[in-house]
Amino acid sequence: MTFQLCYASKTTAPHHQLLNDLREIFGEARDFNILHQVRGVLYFADEHFFQCIEGEESVILRLLEKLHKDPRHQQIKLFNALMIEHAHFTQWSMKYVRRNSKIQQFFKNRGLLRFQPLKLDRQDVPLLLQLLYETE
Ligand SMILES: Cc1cc2nc3c(=O)[nH]c(=O)nc-3n(C[C@H](O)[C@H](O)[C@H](O)COP(=O)(O)O)c2cc1C
Repeated sequence: MTFQLCYASKTTAPHHQLLNDLREIFGEARDFNILHQVRGVLYFADEHFFQCIEGEESVILRLLEKLHKDPRHQQIKLFNALMIEHAHFTQWSMKYVRRNSKIQQFFKNRGLLRFQPLKLDRQDVPLLLQLLYETE
């Protein structure tokens, strides 16, 4: 069993600082996640993040506290925090998925013209996770 948490949020970085923030976030995430056996995926597009993290419950809840305090994003919307049978993202300490047409289509199909994960319904999350999982 593993604990899974998925959320969406919006970057606070002005455009010129974005790459820097992303690079920093990934550096921190890799170090912490490898050390604590956290796995997951992060998608970023149109000023928004969607992240899923998996691992031991106490570790994931500790990470959630850090995420809540992190000034590099805001409007954190939690979709799920639950025990699952099998971890999905076992190969990646934090898989980075770049903007891609399948994800864009997924949002278009839901009447959203941009990547607007804050507007997603909870029941759409498993399908989005599947797409993120399949993306090379
Ligand atoms: C969108 C986003 C995703 C993040 N993902 C992770 C992550 O997977 N693992 C991690 O350790 N930190 C992640 N961070 C960074 C944490 O919020 C925090 O800054 C970092 O863990 C360092 O915290 P500390 O200074 O309290 O040790 C993320 C931050 C943002 C904005």
